[in-house]
Amino acid sequence: MTSARAKETTMTANRPSLAVEIAGLQLKNPVMPASGTFGYGEEYAPYLDLERLGALVTKGLSLHPKAGNPTPRIAETTSGMLNAIGLQNVGVDDFIRSKTPLYRGLTTPVIANFFGNTLEEYGEVARRLADIPEIAAVELNISCPNVKQGGIVFGTEPQAASQVVTLVRKALGKPLIVKLTPNVTDITVIARAVEEAGADAISCINTLTGMAIDVQTRRPKIANRTGGLSGPAIRPVAVRMTHQVVQAVKIPVIGIGGISCARDALEFLIVGARAVQVGTANFVDPGVMMRIIADLEEFLIEEGLDDIGQVIGSLQV
Ligand SMILES: Cc1cc2nc3c(=O)[nH]c(=O)nc-3n(C[C@H](O)[C@H](O)[C@H](O)COP(=O)(O)O)c2cc1C
Repeated sequence: MTSARAKETTMTANRPSLAVEIAGLQLKNPVMPASGTFGYGEEYAPYLDLERLGALVTKGLSLHPKAGNPTPRIAETTSGMLNAIGLQNVGVDDFIRSKTPLYRGLTTPVIANFFGNTLEEYGEVARRLADIPEIAAVELNISCPNVKQGGIVFGTEPQAASQVVTLVRKALGKPLIVKLTPNVTDITVIARAVEEAGADAISCINTLTGMAIDVQTRRPKIANRTGGLSGPAIRPVAVRMTHQVVQAVKIPVIGIGGISCARDALEFLIVGARAVQVGTANFVDPGVMMRIIADLEEFLIEEGLDDIGQVIGSLQV
């Protein structure tokens, strides 16, 4: 072996491990995009190496295609953004036909995020995804109103949350991640309800409902009046909720909210999240997740650690 190759081999052998396991999925590292901020993955392929991601999470899918809400549907706020895109997507059938072939040969596990406006819709989308080999796991977005029950959001009521998770659990054998809404009084009540109903993991959090006004026109800045707040502004709320959920359940938790660098990601890992999702930051820098992965490794080296597992749940109080 040449000395250059010997050096390279030693360095590889000494590199710390970022690998984590979530609900039976083996991830190369704990970093993945947050649903709705990364399209179906193909849109970002020119900017980063999809193979280097821990997982790839798709845009939210519904039973039928959705055009989304009227514009304007995005407004920038201090350290964040409000969006009311309205879950625009191609629909689950078109997704299976035209997008899943792109995932063939990719070693990064693909997680399909989906939602419904009735229990039946959730069940039907789950059944259609059940036998698609390119989909490694699903992420259930329960931040949607149940149109058959006066528009109460599934994820804000423990019984409704439990019902939808039970139904989806029965409909498919893939790992089931349930994504919680922060727009509740006590997120641990919902977390326990979805764990009991059969969730394999929880992702935490979706956007916080907010509103912004144009003072000249005196109109809401987005046509839908209210929207979901995301970005750095929500990170302390998201870290607090992730901490609470980690304490409340035994299943793994994926932390989400305002992550734009490795130190942000580390806050979630230290309170016990097994992985993280990066959302709004992708709009600022489409390559941000590559930097976060590299900097997480750098952090482990600086701290003299050889495995990211030594950071997860290492909170000192
Ligand atoms: C434009 C936009 C679209 C989103 N679409 C979805 C979606 O389809 N399904 C979902 O579960 N969450 C969706 N989210 C929420 C994000 O996945 C994430 O939970 C939230 O933005 C907080 O993370 P961040 O602060 O890193 O953006 C969306 C967020 C944004 C900004």
